[in-house]
Amino acid sequence: MRINEHPILEFKRGKLIHFYFNDQKIDAYEGETIAAALHANGVRVLSRSPHLNRPRGFFCAIGKCSSCLMEVDGIPNVKTCLVLVKEGMHVRNQAGKGRIENSQAVTSFLNRTIPTMTTDIAIIGGGPAGLSAAIYAAKAGVRCMIFDENNQPGGQLIKQTHMFFGSREHYARIRGIDISQKLITEITQLPVQLFTDTSVIGYFHPHTLAIIQAGELKKVVARKTIIATGATENMFTFKNNDLPGVYGAGAVQTLMNVYGVLPGKRVLMVGAGNIGVIVSYQLLQAGVEVVAIVEALPTIGAYQVHASKIARMGVPILTSHTIKQAIGSDKVEAVEIVQLNEKWEEIPGTESIKEVDTICLAVGLNPSSEILSQAGAQMRYLPALGGNVALHDDDLQTTVPGLYVAGDVSGIEEASSAMLEGRLAGLAAAGSLVGTSEKIQILKSETRFGLDKLREGPFGDKTRRGINQLKIAWEHR
Ligand code: FES
Repeated sequence: MRINEHPILEFKRGKLIHFYFNDQKIDAYEGETIAAALHANGVRVLSRSPHLNRPRGFFCAIGKCSSCLMEVDGIPNVKTCLVLVKEGMHVRNQAGKGRIENSQAVTSFLNRTIPTMTTDIAIIGGGPAGLSAAIYAAKAGVRCMIFDENNQPGGQLIKQTHMFFGSREHYARIRGIDISQKLITEITQLPVQLFTDTSVIGYFHPHTLAIIQAGELKKVVARKTIIATGATENMFTFKNNDLPGVYGAGAVQTLMNVYGVLPGKRVLMVGAGNIGVIVSYQLLQAGVEVVAIVEALPTIGAYQVHASKIARMGVPILTSHTIKQAIGSDKVEAVEIVQLNEKWEEIPGTESIKEVDTICLAVGLNPSSEILSQAGAQMRYLPALGGNVALHDDDLQTTVPGLYVAGDVSGIEEASSAMLEGRLAGLAAAGSLVGTSEKIQILKSETRFGLDKLREGPFGDKTRRGINQLKIAWEHR
C-alpha cells in the first residue's frame, strides 16, 4: 500500500525498522506514525468499541477523534495516528476499556511543584494560524512558545499539494506544503520555541497551561495566550459509519501526502465542495480509482475549475445523492448510495451498490474549541462558522482577557484566512504587551483589509453571515 511514484511528491523514507503488532513482526520506516505503518501493511482494525466490540479504524489522523487508540508498550489509549513507530515497539489492539484519567493528574495543578516554563505568549496549535501568530508577535518583540500535539508543525498545510488562489500576498500559486515550509523556516530565525508531540490538557487563569510532554506533566506560565487549535472533521449518520475504511478527507491526505501510503484502491468520495474535489484529484494522482463523488446538495460547491478537471478525468459527480449504508464486516467492502428528492428524502428504487474499500468523507469541519469552553470563554453555536466558537472582538480577543483565537477554531475558513487571523492575533497580543506602535497599527489595518478581501464574493457569503452574527452576539454579551 505504499506509494512509490507520485507526480508531485517525493517520499524520503527513514531507516527500515521493525515493530510488533499483536506479536507479529511488521516492517516500518522511521518517521512514520504507528497508524500509517499499520495501514501500509494492510491493518485497518486498530481497536474495538467498549460496549459492542465493533471494529474501529482511524478517522481523522490528527489526534482529534480517538478512533485509533491502541496499547503501545503496555500503555493503553495511545493515539497511534500521532505517535511515531520505534524499533522493537509492541503495539496491540485494545478493547476500549481502561481509559487514562488525566483528571487526577491535573487536580491542584496550580499549586504543584512541577517543571515550569515561562514565555510572553503561549500559542496552542502549530498550523497556519499558530505559526503566523508567532511570526508576527515575535517580530513585534516578544517571546513565543508554540505547542502542537503532532510530530511536525504546519497543521493541515503539510498535506496540501494544491496551489493556493488569491493574491501574491496570500501565497497564490504556491502549494500548501511549500507554504508550511516557508513559515517553519521563518520561525527558526525568531525568538519562538516550538514544542511538537506536546498536548495541552488544560488552561488555568491567568494564562497557565498544563501540558504533557514526553509523558511528563509540566506547567507553562505566559502573559497572553492564543488558541489556534484548528478544526475537526465532521462525521454524518449512515449505517455502519464506524467501519474501518470510513475516513475523513484530511486523514486520507495525511496517509497519501505525508506518509506515502494509499488509503485504499477504490474510493467513494462524499462531498463535492472544494475539499472533496481536491482530495479526489489527489487520489487520482496517487493512482487510486475514485468511483464517484456523491453530494447531497443539488449543486456542486467546489470551484468550477477543480470540478471540471475531475469530470474530465472521468469521475462522475452525483449531486442529490447520499450514502445509505457502508457494507462489510470488519472493514468497508462496498457502499450503497441513493438519490434524494428536493425534500432530502431518499427516492425508493434509486439505490445502487458500488464496490469500494474506502469511503472518504469531505462533509465539512467544526472548530476544535473545547479548550476555549474549558477556559471559560463565552461561546455561541453558529452553524455559519461551523459550530461552537468563542465570542471575540476585532482583535480576536475573547471574553477572557488576554486570551485570543485565530484560524479555524474561530470559524471554519480557508488556510489563507487562518494565516491572516494568526497574524492579527499575534500583532494584537504582542501590542498589548509592548505597546501598539504605529507599525503594528498599520499591519493590523492591512491584515483586516486582507481578511475582508478574502471574504468577498459568493464563496464568502456564509462566513460573512457568521461573522455578523458573532459581532451581534459580542455586542450583547
Ligand atoms: S485521533 Fe487518531 S485517528 Fe483520530
